Amino acid sequence: MPKILVTRHVGEHAMGILNQSGLELIINPEDAAPSREWVLKHIADPDVQAVCLMHSQPSDKVDQEFIDTASKSLKCVSTFSVGFDHIDVKAANAKGIKVGHTPGVLNNAVADITVMLVLMTLRKIGYSIDLIKQGRWPQLPWAPFVNCGQSIGHPSLTIGFLGFGRISQAALDRLLAFTNKEHPPKIIYNSSRRRDNQDTIDADFSKRWGVQVQRVEKEELATQSDILIVLCDLNPSTKDLVNKEFLGKMKKSAILVNVARGPIVNSEDLHEALSTGQIWGAGLDVLTGEPNIKADHPLLHLDNCLVIPHLGSADYDTRNGMAELCVRNAIAAVKGEELLAEVKV
Ligand code: DGY
Repeated sequence: MPKILVTRHVGEHAMGILNQSGLELIINPEDAAPSREWVLKHIADPDVQAVCLMHSQPSDKVDQEFIDTASKSLKCVSTFSVGFDHIDVKAANAKGIKVGHTPGVLNNAVADITVMLVLMTLRKIGYSIDLIKQGRWPQLPWAPFVNCGQSIGHPSLTIGFLGFGRISQAALDRLLAFTNKEHPPKIIYNSSRRRDNQDTIDADFSKRWGVQVQRVEKEELATQSDILIVLCDLNPSTKDLVNKEFLGKMKKSAILVNVARGPIVNSEDLHEALSTGQIWGAGLDVLTGEPNIKADHPLLHLDNCLVIPHLGSADYDTRNGMAELCVRNAIAAVKGEELLAEVKV
């Protein structure tokens, strides 16, 4: 009987779908990450044909060790995430293992968090919350320019995206609702991937919002953006892409928002840029080394840096949607059907 390995309970909705599949399941009994040994032991089971796993669990890294240990019957690793930087896709494919992921269903949730971080960073909300919690409100009473931030309606604004996929486009649609209608912002992006319908996508934004959307080189993205949003994949070409050199080219008034993966932005270089006033502020949903971030992490102690703990997709509807797609990918693979969403590299 074919089995699906589930490295963590994926919620009642998706567990129901798994239970109705008629396939045998091996489920991690703890509501916590399993040990690496537990994962390796079970993927070697000759009946395990698919595994549902998490990008956030070190035990679930699909590296050469995982691939070498997996039984010959493993047909699919299905990750409960759109990102797949924890999976060596080429090595998996070389062994005939397909990789499933969860694009689409999280676009709105991550776009919402992106907008929230942009607004909170521009308006210094993280700092303001810290301030009143420390009982310091009386030191900064209402006065003409006390606690002022920057306006998203500024008449000569440029919004830049590093990566211009579905989530960036959903974020842009939301952001444009806040910007200046008489002086619409300029939209620029840099992306290594060019979709076949990219011209149509760009033209569609112009039609709906009266803005120009333009692909630019990284240098221009750094120098021109007032709001720079990082929403690209993490891969060897994007690791540390936002480094000292990149940050050094940015405007002193610019903000950086990272909702993709921590290692795309070099933390030490960002700390230096923020503390020397090289850039104005940062809003981060992700950080290199997460979740093992201690309270003394330097970026947590800057007034112009707001950090939240990787919760871009964290609303119940979205997580249930991701869980469903994750288990349906696994079931499809076991049944010999096409995955609903397969990673192609
Ligand atoms: C993903 O799906 O890759 C997200 O980072 C999870 O929130």
